[in-house]
Amino acid sequence: MKIAILASEGAPYIKSGGLGDVMEALPSALARIEGNEVVLFLPYYKKIKYNPAIQTELALYCSVSLGWRQQYAGLLRLKGRNDGVQVYFVDNDYYFGGRDGAIYGDLDDSERFAFFSKACLDLMKRMNFIPDVMQCNDWQTAMVPTYLRAMYRDFFPGTRCMFTIHNIEYQGWAHGGFFDDVLGLPWEYRGCMDMHGSVNMMKGAIETADMVTTVSETYSRELMYPYYAHGLDSIISSAAWKLTGITNGIDVNTFNPLTDPALPVNYNAESFVAGKAACKAKLQQEVGLPVKPDTPLMVMVTRLAGHKGLDLLCYIARKLLWEEDCQLLILGTGEKQFEQFFTELAAEFPDRVAAKITFNLGLAARIYAGGDIYLMPSKSEPCGLSQMNAMHYGTVPVVHATGGLKDTVPPCDENGEDGLGFTFQSYNGDDFMAAVKRCLHLYHCNRPAFRALQERDMRQDFSWNVPASRYMDLFHRMLCR
Ligand code: GLC
Repeated sequence: MKIAILASEGAPYIKSGGLGDVMEALPSALARIEGNEVVLFLPYYKKIKYNPAIQTELALYCSVSLGWRQQYAGLLRLKGRNDGVQVYFVDNDYYFGGRDGAIYGDLDDSERFAFFSKACLDLMKRMNFIPDVMQCNDWQTAMVPTYLRAMYRDFFPGTRCMFTIHNIEYQGWAHGGFFDDVLGLPWEYRGCMDMHGSVNMMKGAIETADMVTTVSETYSRELMYPYYAHGLDSIISSAAWKLTGITNGIDVNTFNPLTDPALPVNYNAESFVAGKAACKAKLQQEVGLPVKPDTPLMVMVTRLAGHKGLDLLCYIARKLLWEEDCQLLILGTGEKQFEQFFTELAAEFPDRVAAKITFNLGLAARIYAGGDIYLMPSKSEPCGLSQMNAMHYGTVPVVHATGGLKDTVPPCDENGEDGLGFTFQSYNGDDFMAAVKRCLHLYHCNRPAFRALQERDMRQDFSWNVPASRYMDLFHRMLCR
């Protein structure tokens, strides 16, 4: 099957969050399936263009019309990737190659990514590549299904289009005039792009895609409720017949405690007791906490954003530290209020709390390995990858039972039996506190059961094999329609 995957980020070239990780592992998992030809399209950002490790060659170029504009689009073929995925970068200096700073956050983001979506279609046409399936991700590629249906059908008559929602919070809003000025679509598509007089690109994709998926089963159901859907609940409900949840995997080759070069000691499910103890001691040293093998180390690697549940942690932190024997370690950057809170907390409890307000992939890996307990109380979480990383490294998760957290962390009882971690149902500090305490209690009072739970976490299959085959099933189903 010929599969084109389109996204605004993809590791190892460019990544701002979980989408980037998924766009590294999913294409590669699909390419491992016999008979597939997988092509990944990404924008040619300045950071990619001037990265000497990324070698490309110009394949072709064309002109892309965007409303009244005519824009250059170059197609750069990546050299030297050998997992069967062909990566192409879409070049345009005005939108991507000539801009400093982060990959998102410019005032004209809507126009930049409308351009990217249309350019991908024009470039595929120019290179005469007619995929069976186009798989598009989040609002930045949300114009693809609509353009495909409205303007490119002649060239791609049998191509089916899947739209995948990784996070519904960001939808690609633009003012109403954007429809004519930038999108340049036939007038009959105004209705599907319109939301309260403005343009909403994600809404358009949900309506025009052949299938819609999201990144966990639970999130696909949650999206029908206003609490989770950021205004799109009724649109999602109307599209329920073509909506499926497929829970992400993690890249178990990169994230492997047995081979991870960032760790001081490597280990697997047989040797984790000694391995993790050594990693913990080194980690405590590295972050300036007292080396205490029997004090549970609770860790968090996260963007310091409100929806990650940090308000709950702020609410319980002092009480927890007074009442329980434990250490807390946070790694991440983000909203100033949280950066400040954890910095102050670390100053107040220097031998109990460490806050590393920075982005450091090596330290993140050492935290997954050296921690005992992983906290993830997200308010909502489409899938979440770090709870799976943590479990894969033998660190027991305590999570809010929402979205992908609910699907990947079945709850265990107070004896640590059955499930894979500790969960709480309703989003409030006291319930979170109770879940943390259940976990700490198991650690302190029944270490053999805690270790059995860690081992179960490590032996769980979080690879992309199952999710990739579920994507394939849906691709086949779209093609039969
Ligand atoms: C987004 C979601 C996260 C998910 C990731 C990959 O970042 O917020 O929950 O794991 O996409 O699908």
